[in-house]
Amino acid sequence: MRILVTGGAGFIGSAFLQRAVAEQPQHTFLNVDKLGYAANLRNLAGVDQAPNYSFRRVDLTDASLIATTVAEFEPDLVVHFAAESHVDRSISAPRAFVDSNVVGTLNLLEACRAVWRDPAGKRFHHISTDEVFGALGPSGSFDETTAYDPRSPYSASKAASDHLVRAYSHTYGLPAVITNCSNNYGPRQFPEKLIPLMILNCLARKPLPVYGEGQQIRDWLYVDDHVDAILRVATDGKLGETYLIGGGHEVTNLEIVRTIIAEVASQTGAEPAELEALITYVPDRPGHDFRYAINPTKIREELGWTPRETFSTGLRKTVAWYLAETDWVRDVQSGEYREWMRRQYGGDA
Ligand code: NAD
Ligand code: TYD
Repeated sequence: MRILVTGGAGFIGSAFLQRAVAEQPQHTFLNVDKLGYAANLRNLAGVDQAPNYSFRRVDLTDASLIATTVAEFEPDLVVHFAAESHVDRSISAPRAFVDSNVVGTLNLLEACRAVWRDPAGKRFHHISTDEVFGALGPSGSFDETTAYDPRSPYSASKAASDHLVRAYSHTYGLPAVITNCSNNYGPRQFPEKLIPLMILNCLARKPLPVYGEGQQIRDWLYVDDHVDAILRVATDGKLGETYLIGGGHEVTNLEIVRTIIAEVASQTGAEPAELEALITYVPDRPGHDFRYAINPTKIREELGWTPRETFSTGLRKTVAWYLAETDWVRDVQSGEYREWMRRQYGGDA
């Protein structure tokens, strides 16, 4: 198969490529990424040497460049990760989210529709989020029948992209499958998201900013478990279907921060009380969704997928990774990774 991966220099896309390229030498992978602020080609260390892997810098908002790229590569499978992904940025600057997530997805769909005259054996796998379903109260969970109710510019743009994928499947017969997953964590996540931000701030003894009272709840999924689910859906998921992927670990934000403190203290010998004192309550995020939770029955029963990591094993691995990968951390914090990509690819990378 020829597999086109979008957004493969980001957190989840690079975890997918790290596994799939090594495990599937019989397949050819092309990674297209615009190399935005959250992209880091060093996430692909090792993969970038593989004979079945190549990279092309493409911004999906450039309709003609993605059309040419798809026409030249002729993919059998598209795994579409590329998106602007951070809720706080979508609140301060929503337009980039509509550009990349909505228009970018439309351009990619159009490119595939043009090339896949005969859709037999082709597949478009759209990666989405549980945030499209809105916010839950203290009980209940999302499943594949839950109505869409996005509430942030990020989730609205992801919902729009899901609707476009379904519309292309329904109207043009484009062979598509959608997965909506809960909050991911693990190695190589850009340190603007809760877990890596808290780990690195603990290490630097910087304030740990907790929004509001820290009582919001997320359902945390270790990134490699997500990759495992994607690989199953990409091969065995039914076309035209949606699968929800959840970690099954619901925790309040404050509990997360305290668990991170305990883990960092245990792995570094720091004094937990010194790290606890860094917790700083800051004004809440506008429109902050209270709780997300996923009912994973469908993917478990149809595809036999369940997460392997518990929150404590996943978090232990994640903290250990950020402690060990000091070059990656230094690069990201100094901005050197962008300078390095700019030297290779030019532009504003
Ligand atoms: P990320 O921000 O780490 O990476 C996104 C990548 O997409 C970056 O490399 C970026 O350069 C690229 N990109 C953005 N806009 C692009 C464009 N116009 N053209 C080409 N490339 C572009 O995000 P992530 O956490 O790896 O998320 C990947 C996907 O998973 C996204 O679609 C996101 O909505 C979804 N998702 C993420 C989470 C999570 O917890 N991280 C949860 C649910 C769903
Ligand atoms: P985040 O990692 O941004 O993911 P999402 O908003 O997509 O769920 O945030 C996870 C939770 O942590 C969310 O409820 C907001 C909260 N949060 C903080 O309390 N402080 C922070 O500095 C950040 C980045 C997030």
